[in-house]
Amino acid sequence: MRRVVLAGRGELAEWRDAARAFAAAGILPDEIDWREKSAEADLSFQRDAMPPAPVTRRPMTVPPAFIELAETVLCHTDPARFSLLYRLLWRLQLDRQLLEVASDEDVARARLMAKNVRRDAHKMTAFVRFKEVGAVTADRRKFIAWFEPDHHIVRRMAPFFQRRFTDMDWLIVTPKGSAAWDGERLTMSDEPCEKPNLTDVTDELWRTYYASIFNPARLKLKAMQAEMPKKYWKNLPEADLIPGLIASAESKVRAMAARESTQAMPFHERLQEAARSVPAEPEAPAGTLEALRAEAAVCTRCPLYEKATQTVFGEGPPDAEVMFVGEQPGDQEDIAGRPFVGPAGRLLDQVIGEAGIDRSRLYVTNAVKHFKYEPRGKRRIHQRPNMGEVKHCRWWLNLEMELVKPKLIVAMGATALAALTDAKHRLQDIRGEAMAIEGGRTLFVTVHPSYLLRLPDERLKAEELARFRQDMLKIQRLMAAIG
Ligand code: URA
Repeated sequence: MRRVVLAGRGELAEWRDAARAFAAAGILPDEIDWREKSAEADLSFQRDAMPPAPVTRRPMTVPPAFIELAETVLCHTDPARFSLLYRLLWRLQLDRQLLEVASDEDVARARLMAKNVRRDAHKMTAFVRFKEVGAVTADRRKFIAWFEPDHHIVRRMAPFFQRRFTDMDWLIVTPKGSAAWDGERLTMSDEPCEKPNLTDVTDELWRTYYASIFNPARLKLKAMQAEMPKKYWKNLPEADLIPGLIASAESKVRAMAARESTQAMPFHERLQEAARSVPAEPEAPAGTLEALRAEAAVCTRCPLYEKATQTVFGEGPPDAEVMFVGEQPGDQEDIAGRPFVGPAGRLLDQVIGEAGIDRSRLYVTNAVKHFKYEPRGKRRIHQRPNMGEVKHCRWWLNLEMELVKPKLIVAMGATALAALTDAKHRLQDIRGEAMAIEGGRTLFVTVHPSYLLRLPDERLKAEELARFRQDMLKIQRLMAAIG
């Protein structure tokens, strides 16, 4: 029996190097005793870490899905994770499709570990609460957060926090290591930390914010308990408000119902209810577009969510080179949950198709992700979002851009233009031109297809449509130049 002792802090390279060496030496899974360093005395690490026998065999190969699985499973705290992965590595040499066999005991166990790690990571994104500990410079502030993860996820999650909180200095300390960002460097340590004694003025802010966004009519106790397990409460400044808010929810809902003269139309309530009952998507890895979509689905950053059926998030390839940005979902998009599927979308599809642009290559999204409208009889009449709503929603648009990294962005209409540029450009001044914007990207500005649909004068409509076609041809040429 060969014993190998790993630090086991969720680093693929550490396990992979050992596994490669053992595999190359033909050492079978049940001939290795994998241990974790924290459970061992340092001495035994020195004494027992046995180098494998000389390399004699062809290197083993694995499908990319195994690497992804291993990266996640290695973050788990189960000491059996190393041997489980090594056994899978061997078995994959005989059966390349093994990972698809959900009923296989090893596969099922690995998948469950990966799921637990992803869940833990998701909780970290939701429950880390930064506390201010002073300013570094006049315009740069410094924060610390304490979090208690179940698994070794600090390294895995640090880049997420770097992206999210890039303009402040922060330190996240946990019993399983720490991560810090100073605006230039992301540093990580595996040293366990102790809980710092921290409170700050933002605690009160959190509590006020939480109490104000708590919507008693939307309270779903079971879902809330599942999403926000009690073990996280002790580190959440708002946690002690929760029992009181829950207790008063019923009477608040009754009071709301009593003063509902401005309520949404009854048919719309049913749509909202149906959208809420769509089964939750499986949890996506944090820092991905899918995870962002799931977060945006419960967005309450501005009041537009109250009347809309659902969030209409962007769609398209996660690495699309071109992003089209519209204004906000319309009536049909609000019901379908997808952007540009109504009349404006059909016009857009037609014109881009004529210009030789394949919609499936585009990431299509909106400046604002909820439908803003005015009920009129049974109809819902589009209302333009105001600058405050655009600014709130820019949060999602910026994150979409950060993840998709498009080289070319097409702003359709004044709202998209305002969301994408801080400068006050008038659309007609820059329409039909490509301009360089932040992040080495190109912005192309054109009109919104709904504008064309609304033009009452047929001659003007024909002229404007021709210009819109010209714009799409220019975009097609820009796309060809990009690659
Ligand atoms: N108008 C938009 O701006 N976006 C849509 O998704 C539909 C219509």
